[in-house]
Amino acid sequence: MLIKTPRQFSILAAFLLSLLSVVIVELTLYLSGTSINQRYMIIMFFVLLISAYLVIYYLLEKLITQKIRLLYRTIHNFKINRGDFPLSMNEDVLGKTEKEVLDWVDKSREEIEKLRLQEEFRREFLGNLSHELKTPIFSIQGYILTLLEGGLEDENINRAFLERASKGVDRVTGMIEDLDLITRIESEELELNTAKVNIVDLAREIVESFEIKAQKRNVKLSLDWKRIGSQEINVLCDRDKIGQVLSNIINNSINYGVENGHTEVRFFDLEDNILIEVSDDGVGIKEEHLPRLFERFYRVDKSRARNEGGTGLGLAIVKHLVEAHGQTIDVRSTEGQGSTFSFTLKKV
Ligand SMILES: Nc1ncnc2c1ncn2[C@@H]1O[C@H](COP(=O)(O)OP(=O)(O)OP(=O)(O)O)[C@@H](O)[C@H]1O
Ligand SMILES: [Mg+2]
Repeated sequence: MLIKTPRQFSILAAFLLSLLSVVIVELTLYLSGTSINQRYMIIMFFVLLISAYLVIYYLLEKLITQKIRLLYRTIHNFKINRGDFPLSMNEDVLGKTEKEVLDWVDKSREEIEKLRLQEEFRREFLGNLSHELKTPIFSIQGYILTLLEGGLEDENINRAFLERASKGVDRVTGMIEDLDLITRIESEELELNTAKVNIVDLAREIVESFEIKAQKRNVKLSLDWKRIGSQEINVLCDRDKIGQVLSNIINNSINYGVENGHTEVRFFDLEDNILIEVSDDGVGIKEEHLPRLFERFYRVDKSRARNEGGTGLGLAIVKHLVEAHGQTIDVRSTEGQGSTFSFTLKKV
């Protein structure tokens, strides 16, 4: 039998000690020729056994609780008091402590990793933010300086430069509004006004608002509700927020679509949910970018997106808004063939 608990150890040690003592006494008496009363020997053996057991057990318990309590108090943030020391002398104290310490090491390691990631994210986020703000602010500054240095009197440029500076200001404002929205969603300050909404109507409204932009690139926008067979598909959602989700995705499909392309919004009936898909036949996205696509400031083609005014916040907002509804958003894409963004909403 393997000795695991302090009590087992005390019993075995006491037994061996007593046995050894009795044997030594017997041997000494025997060698000195004294007659041996075996009954005394047995009594002596048991007296020795019990007292050795008590002493060993007491010392062991003292040692273990003193040393291990300190360890326990450290790994449990000093929350363990004298009364509720969690180990009993009938248990495998060292084995259990080893496991606790290993668990604690694992947990601490996880926490450190989480902090490290947060720190990295924060650094990257601040870096991105200042970079993104710098671009429009420098251009505004450029236009204003030119105006101040005489451009103001030049009828050919004064108006145009002011308009460009104003566009730059709009860009910065838009970015700050996006960031503000993300921060509010993340700190759960955002309230959803959920109600029954006909998602086909909402999608049609958004599609119509993009018609002029789409026409400029000759992109065809269409709705496909036929798989469900009715134009009345009711879901539970915040109308404005889901409108914003659809706007962002449809806007992307036009921005990253091709001339003469086609964007389609489709609806699928899932068990409890409705799946809404926005599919385009545009440039598509390389698989390596897909996992990071919904991160703040993440853009696939940074130079191209900047020319088109994107900051990479759109999809981060979209993901937050869909998740605020307790739903999920996904993307499938093949480079050169097109992309499909799909999200679910609860059916009513
Ligand atoms: N339909 C799409 N087809 C191809 N690439 C896309 C599509 N939608 C998004 N992307 C890629 O994902 C990136 C992130 O999109 P997101 O909407 O978050 O940012 P953005 O459009 O660049 O800027 P913003 O929406 O903040 O103005 C885009 O820069 C683009 O590279
Ligand atoms: Mg976008």
